[in-house]
Amino acid sequence: MEKTARIRSRISNASSIAVLTGAGISADSGVPTFRGQDGLWRNFKAEELATPDAFRRDPGLVWEWYNWRREIIATKNPNAAHHALVKLERHAQSFILITQNVDGLHGKAGSKNITEIHGNIWKTRCTACGDISHNFDVPISILPHCKKCNGLLRPHIVWFGESLDPADIKQSMDALHTCEVLLVIGTSGIVQLAASFISAAKGAGAYVVEINIEETPNSYLVDEVLAGRASDVVPLLVNRD
Ligand code: APR
Repeated sequence: MEKTARIRSRISNASSIAVLTGAGISADSGVPTFRGQDGLWRNFKAEELATPDAFRRDPGLVWEWYNWRREIIATKNPNAAHHALVKLERHAQSFILITQNVDGLHGKAGSKNITEIHGNIWKTRCTACGDISHNFDVPISILPHCKKCNGLLRPHIVWFGESLDPADIKQSMDALHTCEVLLVIGTSGIVQLAASFISAAKGAGAYVVEINIEETPNSYLVDEVLAGRASDVVPLLVNRD
């Protein structure tokens, strides 16, 4: 059987599906990546601004940078890969979408059971009372304050040097330990997490498929590698009806 058909059949016969996505799925919607020239803002790198230290030193600067990113992301729309995952969820008995992306495009497409392990650029968190709220203002007023306690708000994003939410990790790991199929879409494996998620699923017997435009450090861990753009490949894996 042809590779794509084989994978499609494994997917349609699976009762539980997990999906892990990274920046590559949003690249096809035109969301600039963190790294590289188009990720630069006033000569700052993301690693210099997306940190608790940078926010302590100059919260206004960090919020200005997030306003720049919100302005760009606000103009972007989900692509065929995001939409195909919505369809996949609709047909699966059990489905979880774990994303490292903070752009909210999976939610905008209509995916329901999403775990945004790095947070969401459209959410704020109060540094005083911890309240998490949606905020779609572009630009957000600088500096934004909590409606409940007037504390300073920060982006609800996991910054460099911060830990992921243990509840998100547990929910993800539980799903990875029980899924029959795991799709890994557009993530580089630069961050260790993807490798540990893949190992967890593989160790529990899942069939793991990687979709990426290039080989990654995770390619040797998976059962199948599909080379190509997410927006071309993912729709081919979901049965048309
Ligand atoms: N289709 C599929 N894959 C693609 C596409 C595409 N159109 N375009 C790029 N890719 C792949 C690249 O080959 C690369 O392997 O997507 C991957 C993107 O890698 P990264 O930019 O490292 O993104 P990601 O894996 O999401 O990074 C993880 O690191 O910077 C932190 O917190 C940030 O969430 C991010 C995390």
